[in-house]
Amino acid sequence: MAYDTIEVKPMTPRIGAEVFGVDLARPTNRQLAEIHAAFLEHQVLFFRGQALDPDSHKRFGRHFGELHVHPAAPGPEGHPEILPIHADAKSRHVNGEVWHSDVSCDAEPPLGSVLHLTIVPPVGGDTVFASMYAAYDALSERMKAYLDGLTALHDGERFYRGRYEDRGVDDAGKTYPRAIHPVIRTHPETGRKTIFVNRMFTTRIVGLARDESEAILGFLWEHCAKPEYQVRFRWAENSVAFWDNRAVQHQALWDYFPHTRSGLRVTIKGDAPR
Ligand code: SIN
Repeated sequence: MAYDTIEVKPMTPRIGAEVFGVDLARPTNRQLAEIHAAFLEHQVLFFRGQALDPDSHKRFGRHFGELHVHPAAPGPEGHPEILPIHADAKSRHVNGEVWHSDVSCDAEPPLGSVLHLTIVPPVGGDTVFASMYAAYDALSERMKAYLDGLTALHDGERFYRGRYEDRGVDDAGKTYPRAIHPVIRTHPETGRKTIFVNRMFTTRIVGLARDESEAILGFLWEHCAKPEYQVRFRWAENSVAFWDNRAVQHQALWDYFPHTRSGLRVTIKGDAPR
């Protein structure tokens, strides 16, 4: 698609583009259509200088679907659909420090996420995104044939239990989502195949012995994290990243302790992977 109302500058041949010429708090319908096309083409889009507040942030997310409420982390007062992303000198962990696709343990995992940072550390705190199209395409035909048709368990329990204690969450008696998804999914909009297992949530491949499952997943963790499938984003205050959870995995680097990094994420509901 030709972009007439926004400027789209690819950051690598496989994944990631910077988008210029749009105010995400007030996009036109044509700009939204072009952002959607660029999102499908580049899998993760980056915007600079966006002064979003919680309402305009949610409004932008809603142009792409209904908003998702996080199963473990509470939102700010009056905004259950917002996930605070915050780390400072008192933090014991940060969101997203392990490679993942957001909340893939849901039966219908999120389509995409829109992260807006308002405080960034002086250096560090980058986010790395990896194209699961590129990772799938690079597999041998024999490995593609082996993985196609397999399913895997994604379990929220392992990662979420006790995780938000520091935000006052008592999760005693709470059940976290778990779901079985295809190891290779077909993107519902582009029709392209992607690898849909990740280190944070995927605990085993269904139907394999535990050691077989561990060996295959171990291979996939290494394979999916190869630098040639990645783009790395250097945040500034009021930057936004909008990524497609169906096609990318990401990892937030916590190399800036004890500095503060803070912002809000809106997440868009998706559908059951097929
Ligand atoms: C996340 O949404 O997983 C966190 C990403 C980040 O903090 O860069």
